[in-house]
Amino acid sequence: MPALVLLGAQWGDEGKGKATDLLGGSVDYVVRYQGGNNAGHTVVVGDQKYALHLLPSGILSPGCTPVIGNGVVVDPAVLLSELSGLADRGVDTSKLLISGNAHLITPYHTTLDKVSERFLGKRKIGTTGRGIGPAYADKINRVGIRVQDLFDESILRQKVEAALDYKNQVLAKLYNRRAIAVDQVVEELLGYADRLSGYVADTTLLLNNAIDQGQVVLFEGGQGTLLDVDHGTYPFVTSSNPTAGGACTGTGVGPTKINRVIGILKAYTTRVGAGPFPTELLDEDGEKLRTIGGERGVTTGRDRRCGWFDAVIARYATRVNGLTDFFLTKLDVLTGWERIPVCVAYEIDGKRVEELPYSQTDFHHAKPIYETLPGWSEDITQAKTFDELPKNAQKYVQALEEMSGAPISAIGVGPGRDETIQINSFL
Ligand code: GDP
Ligand code: IMO
Ligand code: MG
Repeated sequence: MPALVLLGAQWGDEGKGKATDLLGGSVDYVVRYQGGNNAGHTVVVGDQKYALHLLPSGILSPGCTPVIGNGVVVDPAVLLSELSGLADRGVDTSKLLISGNAHLITPYHTTLDKVSERFLGKRKIGTTGRGIGPAYADKINRVGIRVQDLFDESILRQKVEAALDYKNQVLAKLYNRRAIAVDQVVEELLGYADRLSGYVADTTLLLNNAIDQGQVVLFEGGQGTLLDVDHGTYPFVTSSNPTAGGACTGTGVGPTKINRVIGILKAYTTRVGAGPFPTELLDEDGEKLRTIGGERGVTTGRDRRCGWFDAVIARYATRVNGLTDFFLTKLDVLTGWERIPVCVAYEIDGKRVEELPYSQTDFHHAKPIYETLPGWSEDITQAKTFDELPKNAQKYVQALEEMSGAPISAIGVGPGRDETIQINSFL
């Protein structure tokens, strides 16, 4: 099983960090393929809790090489501070590899992210303000700065000049902000070059060779399927492709080399930021899910919007990612509800709809059609096998599996590595 993708099946924060870390001990490489430090992946090892933003969750497994692929946008200041934070806690970060083709997030990207959100007012996306959208826009617009540019001062200066020529007009004339000096940006970026140079590698060549030699490579997605710029709830999305295809373009590994695609699926639903969310609960149940589930953003500290499980979304994730397995997380959070509603279809303009509508307007009008399943009250956090779960928890998992279109191969019953019921092996 040389290559597998692990990605979010909903709107992010499904527990990808925990799932990646769990597999980290058995794989040779863990590779981030898109996104940047908009991600917040929590890993709990024993009594230690880590919040990772840019670094792949495999960094906490000593045998595993963490890789930042070409599809990621890298804020060098954040990267270096994350590395030193982990080193201070005794984590060996020396194996990290970074693609020279990954694009950089510079201070002007972060500024533009914030001012453009302010400019949008009521229509804002609710971004993380980390410069993600502007950095990807520059990449597509062919005025981005790449990691490799840090090592050629003359090229770096030319590229920063080209980018700022236009952006300074926008900043000054549209947003009424001060222009940003080329020298200041170049100087700051050059200041990172020496500290990053040892990590930069031809990651595409290295990963392809590793797979050809039978080593195990895990691609770790940031965000989630419904935040994908092509397949998500556009325009309320992030600016990259968290879906499975992103693992190929974001690393330079072809689809024929990927054997398994695992969707991380929360036993209920959450979303951070603006945009449609059919099963959102604005009542006591939503507040209860938020409190028991600890649903507060790892990156921005914002409260997550909470709602019941949505099987239409899970089926959609199976389809657009070609999922082979689900890893169902946070089942323990649902303990104590007498009955648990699950959305099985939508009602749109009086009609029952089983699949996610492609039309934005239809999705905004979608009302959830619920089936209600019986709950359980027993503590499940110590369960190690499926049979140890209460009968109603087993039925809940089986019902979700039937509705979602791929086998549930693991179940999370707590945040820790060992709080997992493994049903089918991923490797
Ligand atoms: P990610 O962005 O997908 O990595 O997810 P986050 O780390 O942002 O949010 C998931 C949260 O749920 C974290 O606080 C995890 O420690 C926690 N978590 C993950 N799996 C489980 C689980 O099965 N049960 C419980 N109770 N918490 C979990
Ligand atoms: P992980 O990897 C949840 C959301 C933001 C906003 C939208 C666009 O921890 O699951 P951006 O800053 O990316 O331009 O913001 O995407 N968002 C996330 N929501 N989890 C994440 O990452 C997210 N990364 C971005 O809240 O709605
Ligand atoms: Mg997160």
